[in-house]
Formats: sequence, structure tokens, C-alpha cells
Amino acid sequence: MCGIVAYMGYRQVVPILMEGLHKLEYRGYDSAGCAFLSEDRQLKVFKARGKVANLERLLAEQNVCSTLGMAHTRWATHGGPSELNAHPHLSQSGHIALVHNGIIENYATLRSQLEKRGYTFRSETDTEVLVQLIEYVMSVRKDDLATSVRMALKLCIGAYAIAAIDDRHPQQLVAARKASPLAIGIGENNEEFFLASDASPIAGYTKKIVYLEDEEVAVLERGKKVRIENLHTGVVDYEVKEVDLDLSMLDKGGFPHFMLKEIFDQPAVLRDCMRGRLLEKDGRHRVVLSAVEQYREQLANAKRFTIVSCGTSWHAGLIGKQLIEHFCRIHTEVAYASEFRYSDTVIEPGEVVVAISQSGETADTLAAVEMAKAKGAFIFGIVNSVGSSIARQTDTGTYIHIGPEIGVASTKAFTGQITVLTLLALALGKTRGTVDEEEYEEVLAELDRIPDKIKKVLQQNDKIKALAQIFTYARNFLYLGRGWNYPVALEGALKLKEISYIHAEGYPAAEMKHGPIALVDQEMPVVFIATHHQLYQKIISNMQEVISRKGRIFAVVTEGDEQVKNLAVEVIEVPATLACLAPLLTVVPLQLLSYHVAVAKRLNVDQPRNLAKSVTVE
Ligand code: F6R
Repeated sequence: MCGIVAYMGYRQVVPILMEGLHKLEYRGYDSAGCAFLSEDRQLKVFKARGKVANLERLLAEQNVCSTLGMAHTRWATHGGPSELNAHPHLSQSGHIALVHNGIIENYATLRSQLEKRGYTFRSETDTEVLVQLIEYVMSVRKDDLATSVRMALKLCIGAYAIAAIDDRHPQQLVAARKASPLAIGIGENNEEFFLASDASPIAGYTKKIVYLEDEEVAVLERGKKVRIENLHTGVVDYEVKEVDLDLSMLDKGGFPHFMLKEIFDQPAVLRDCMRGRLLEKDGRHRVVLSAVEQYREQLANAKRFTIVSCGTSWHAGLIGKQLIEHFCRIHTEVAYASEFRYSDTVIEPGEVVVAISQSGETADTLAAVEMAKAKGAFIFGIVNSVGSSIARQTDTGTYIHIGPEIGVASTKAFTGQITVLTLLALALGKTRGTVDEEEYEEVLAELDRIPDKIKKVLQQNDKIKALAQIFTYARNFLYLGRGWNYPVALEGALKLKEISYIHAEGYPAAEMKHGPIALVDQEMPVVFIATHHQLYQKIISNMQEVISRKGRIFAVVTEGDEQVKNLAVEVIEVPATLACLAPLLTVVPLQLLSYHVAVAKRLNVDQPRNLAKSVTVE
């Protein structure tokens, strides 16, 4: 959460920082701020409550002339979203400015120690404690900014990505990270440097990127090679990566919101996801996943799989469990990463832990990976963000390659994750000899057709939009599905609540009678996902139970369905497909439904309240 962008070089810094903040606004948007070093070496700080646009308006009234500065967009942890709590924070003397993403867990102790030494605090933030601590260390040891940052961070417990400038050291921009991402972009001949929470603000300027590792401090000085030191071991060698981002993915491409664009992107990005992995020759298909080829032994002989993830990625994990158990006959568990990381669960060498994460930065998932690794498990990552922390911590894995996902509500990442899980289960099932030859071909041939079938679902956008209008009154929703569509019910409910703020529950349809049925009345929309698969007749019985309580049914059904049509107020049809691939189609109308309900309620779809795209705090 929180986005950091900084620049040091020869260009005017304001446009770079503002453009960068807009790209990072998905990470937090309750306040924004920036600090510049003016030509006469004055440190100037500007802050605004709310969106980056407010800060931009404020800056438009100033005449900032600077080639060194940093900016921040905030997702509040310590202290509410106010101008006072917005970053950057200044040290007591006003010489040092700091932006921070993460949480300093021992900030209260550090603060009271600093207070005893005469430091006073203006904000409620842990970040202000850190900048005062840096200043205190500097005053005692008389070191430069970089060394003082390093010494101060040794005293901190927690997570951080920071950037700091000091008007007494105008040639230095200092950065550090632990458990929160930070990328450094290097310009021609080291004449300019960029810093950002992800590569998107940097990619338009340079392809040369260094990802800082945990407990590393980087010192950027014009004209000099980047120096990186580990907090404990001193100077380290680092790798400069060539990163090629598709920048067209970072704009809305004519859609009113990123979320809608990303829903409509799905046919194309799922093709990208399968490219080079799902191969066809003479009408026969096969999967080639380099990770499975390379780590055949560890994966095919696994005693057990455990999938760890959060939110939407956890829902994809529930589908992954069914895929792996069905095609590979390997016992598979799915755990919330936040519970798993602190549990006393039994994980042993010979087991595989699969971490699923769009951002690759989710703190709980990262910690779950570290815990499983320490217990000797083999770690497989299913990640979207290339080079992200989780991707780097895993033993191997498969990127979903769906391009950056900007809308806070995850859509294309979910279908990308299911696609990779399907490929993984089939590749592994083939290796283990547990998948039937005919079924292998049938599923792969159908997977190849899925992007075109999603296009057909998307053609119903107008119908779903009209349907959404009648839902804006609702205060509660129930989403019900069974088997392969049960995780889709959970995902449909999550999508609705996060962007429309309507309470929604996802449930296995038959479980409804054990409690939630008490909520059903004529006010309550009940969304059934009822495609023509093995539990179809059973789910019809569940619908009858809802109708008997005057519930209003809306259903996602297979094209041509007549039975549900007679029971439901409205149905949305999806093309026929195999049961195991149904979620790739049935989730799409639910994504559109939540989008249109939120738009009808005039809510901010891409930046819903209280949420942020990348959850780097636990
Ligand atoms: C929901 C959503 C979140 C994320 C969750 C995990 O739309 O976006 O529930 O799925 O925070 O994030 P990643 O996949 O980045 O680990």
C-alpha cells in the first residue's frame, strides 16, 4: 500500500512525479504529497488530502523549479487520512524529508525514546518517527544521510520502502526496502535516477531497473554508479534488469474505467497467458510449462499441495484445488495466507506450496512462502508482476502474463490465475499419468476456445448494465454456486461488496439452508450460478427453496437453458463449456454486474474506499 516515486537528474521533476503518482494511485489514494529540493537548496513540501489530482492542483499554483524530488500517495495505517499525516514527513530541524510505505512496528517505543530526547511530533504516523530517528542518529554520529538511514533502520522492526533527501546533502537520494517493493531506474551514464514502488512510473524513461532486496539501502548520486549496501553485511553486488513494460496497458484505452477495460481485456490477455504454453499441432494439443519440465521430480512426486493466497487469488486457489485433485490425484489444501503464516500447520520436505498473487507483493502471502520454505517445502509461484517479491522468493513458477492490473478490483488476474492453474494441473497430470488422454485433449482444445467464448459473454454487457440499475436499491445479496462454480459465487460476492459497498455473501448453494436462508425475502436478490453440469438438478432444488421464501433469483446459466429461465427473474447466458472451465465464463457476468452496480451508484470503481491494490501490510 502507498506509492512512492522519486527522481534525481536533469529534468524538471514535477511532471515526472505527478505522472508517476497517477500510475501508483492504485496503491493508495487517501492523501498525497511531495518534497523538492529547489535550486537554492531549500526543501519544499506540499501535501493535499484525497486524490493525487488535489496535489496536482496545488502544485499548479506554485512555481516549482527542481531536478530532485520525491512524492507519495498514501493508504493510511497509522493516523487517519489527513494533510498532517500525509507524506513526506520532515525531521525536527526541517532538513530531512522522508516518504515511506510499510509499517514500523516498534514506532511507539522509538517515539517515546525520542520524546525523552526532546523530539516533538506533529503527526500520528510511524513515518515521522523514522525521520526523527534518522535525524537523531545523524546528530549523534555525524554521518551522512545514507549511513544515518542505515543505522536508523537497524533499530526498526517492521516493513518499509523509503526514500529520503536532505538539503545539506543535495547530491544524494537515499532509498531502502524491507518487505515492501522498490525499484530503481537508471538513466544514461547514471545522469538520472528514478525510484518507484513498481516499474510503471519508470518504464517510459529507462528500461534499466534494479529491484532492491530486503534490508538493502541504495545511494543514488548524479553521475555515479548506484551503491547498494545491506544493513548488516555492507556493499552488495546487484543485477540491473532490462524491463520491457507494455505501456499501452497502463492507460484506459477508451474505456471509462480500468476495471471495465480489464474485464474486456480478458480474451486477449488469456491468449497471451497461454501463448507458448498451450501448443497445437495437427489438431492435437499439449501443454508445455518450463517450470514443470525443469522441476518434474519435485512437483510430480509431491506428497501434498498447499495453495496459499488472499482475496480473489484465494478464490482462484479453491478452483486450483479442484483442478489438481481431479487431474493429478494429489491431495491439495487451500489456506488463507494470513492464517497459514501463523499456524502450526504440518508442512514437510517433499510437499509443494503454491503461492498465488497478482501483485507478487502481498505481505501475508510473502510471509506464508517464507514460512513454508523454512519448513522445507518446494515453492511454486503463480504471479503476475514480473520480478516481484513473491516471484523472487519461489523455487519456480509460472507468470500469468496478463499485463498490469490497475483497477483495484481484481478481474483479469482471476481468470489468468485459473488458466495457469489449469495448464499446471494438466501438465502435471500428464507427467504423473493420472489424466485420461481423451480428457487431456478435450480440456486443452476447449481452453483454446475460451477467449472466444468470453467475447460472447462480453456481448451481453448492455443487458447486464440494464439489470444492474434495478440492483442499486439492494442492501444485501446472496451468491450461490456449487462444485466448480462455488468459488465463483465467493468471487461474485467479493467483487460486489468491494466496489459497490453492498453487503454480499457467497455460499455453496446447498449450505444455504443451514443458516443464510433466514435472510431470504422479497428484498434480497439471490444470484445463482447454475450451468449445465453435474450438480445442475441439485441447484434447481436450491432455487425452489429460495422461491418458496419469495426470494428474487438472478442466474448465470448455460446458453439455451429453459428450466432456470422459468424460475428466475432474469438470466444471463454463457456458452456451453466443460465443468472445470466454467468459472472462466461464469465469473465474467458477475464482474460486469458489480461494475455496473457501482457505476449506477456513482462510486469510484477503480479506487474503492478503504482499499488498495497491493496489500503490503499484514
Ligand atoms: C479483490 C482483490 C484482493 C486481492 C488480494 C490479493 O478484488 O483484488 O482481494 O485479490 O488482496 O492480492 P494479490 O493477488 O496481489 O496477492
